[in-house]
Amino acid sequence: MTVSRQSQLMKEAIQHMPQGVAENYRYWGDDRTVFVAHSKGCEITDCDGKKYIDFRLGYGPIILGYRDERVDRQVIAQITEQGTLSGFSTELDAQVVQQVKALCPQIQKMRFANSGTEAVMGAVRTARGFTKRDRIAIVEGSFHGLFDEMMWKSDLENWNPKGSAEPQVIPFGAGIPERTRSLVDFIRLNDFDGLENLFKNRQDSLACILLEPIIGNAGSISATPQWLQRLRDLCTQNGTLLLLDEVKTGFRVAKGGAQSLYGIYADLTTFAKAMGNGYPVAAFGGRSDVMDVVGSHKGGVVHGGTYTANLIAVRAAHATLQILSQTSALQTVNRLGQHVKEILGRVFTKAGIEHAFAGPPAMLGIHFTPDVPTNYRDWRVTNSSLYQKFSWQLIDRGVMLEPDSREPWFFCEAHQSMDLSWLEDVATQSIEAAKALV
Ligand SMILES: Cc1ncc(COP(=O)(O)O)c(C=O)c1O
Repeated sequence: MTVSRQSQLMKEAIQHMPQGVAENYRYWGDDRTVFVAHSKGCEITDCDGKKYIDFRLGYGPIILGYRDERVDRQVIAQITEQGTLSGFSTELDAQVVQQVKALCPQIQKMRFANSGTEAVMGAVRTARGFTKRDRIAIVEGSFHGLFDEMMWKSDLENWNPKGSAEPQVIPFGAGIPERTRSLVDFIRLNDFDGLENLFKNRQDSLACILLEPIIGNAGSISATPQWLQRLRDLCTQNGTLLLLDEVKTGFRVAKGGAQSLYGIYADLTTFAKAMGNGYPVAAFGGRSDVMDVVGSHKGGVVHGGTYTANLIAVRAAHATLQILSQTSALQTVNRLGQHVKEILGRVFTKAGIEHAFAGPPAMLGIHFTPDVPTNYRDWRVTNSSLYQKFSWQLIDRGVMLEPDSREPWFFCEAHQSMDLSWLEDVATQSIEAAKALV
């Protein structure tokens, strides 16, 4: 019997890292944890030589394609000709901010970060520094990164959707101090009463409301324009900042992100992921008067970090944003997402599976349920276990995705090369196989 490279690598890795992985979310079980050998375009190849068309795309950063030469060439030139880091400013910093400003009218000033988590931390601190208030509110089902205050969630897995009790709010895991929860309120997406009550109860104490308008971490379930507008108005009336987390949607769902689709704009915005086509760059920005509270002046908000605006990250952002703003890459991404949506819709209908799609095609939420979910609690009553079985069948057949319907399908420009009729065949086989397992 031949031993797979995967099992050899896992056996080795487990001796050196908890669960054998560099971070928790990569662990898919000892036998199924994926070790990638290389990636190109929309394809990844694992350590045993198996190829996958990838709709996971590293949780969303890949917007052009893996190893996009237009971006990589500029990054390589930056490394070899100019350098990666000095701990000083460069002219490139402000150039990238100008590129963002040209696409996103709500950004007047911006600062850089290394990850989505860091960008959110910076934005929340800025909101608190500006408003001189401590409390924040977040929306059930959203994800804003791994820092203690954001690591509380509604426990839908153990909640009875037919009962009258509210879901319990629990920490993501061990090590989260109970008191980090005390400044955070939860609201439900598209719940008007909840919104009014929140402002009634917390009128003078809310620094900001933080949300993903299209919840990239709950299957692209989206705010309605009416609810988002009411939220915008209430924030303005109460001196609370609206902080939209566009770490997943930014430079993906449209050049100007989710805000340009709604025509509703935040006081502060966070970006990461698609901003650098896979290079680790992130940012937060917004109104000048708000952002100007950041700085080393007396009473200023502290923001910094050794690797902040390192030149690999900033050069990658410069190259990526140039392509996204000057080419039709995002139109292609949306068109491909739309094609796949149509194909999957056909496949599910033929298989007699009730289904609904959520969110824009570039970040497509797929739910086995008759109606489009309107908030995270609706997701709980979708047939997510059938979706999970379908996903594993797809993965076995060479389609990579996250086997959890809370993670949308991501598209990149390089998906142009995929064979759509192959995808239709594979999806048909996978849904039939999944149904047989129920
Ligand atoms: C909306 C949102 N905010 C913040 C984060 C955290 O970003 P990072 O993983 O880069 O720290 C994520 C990560 O998926 C995210 O989806």
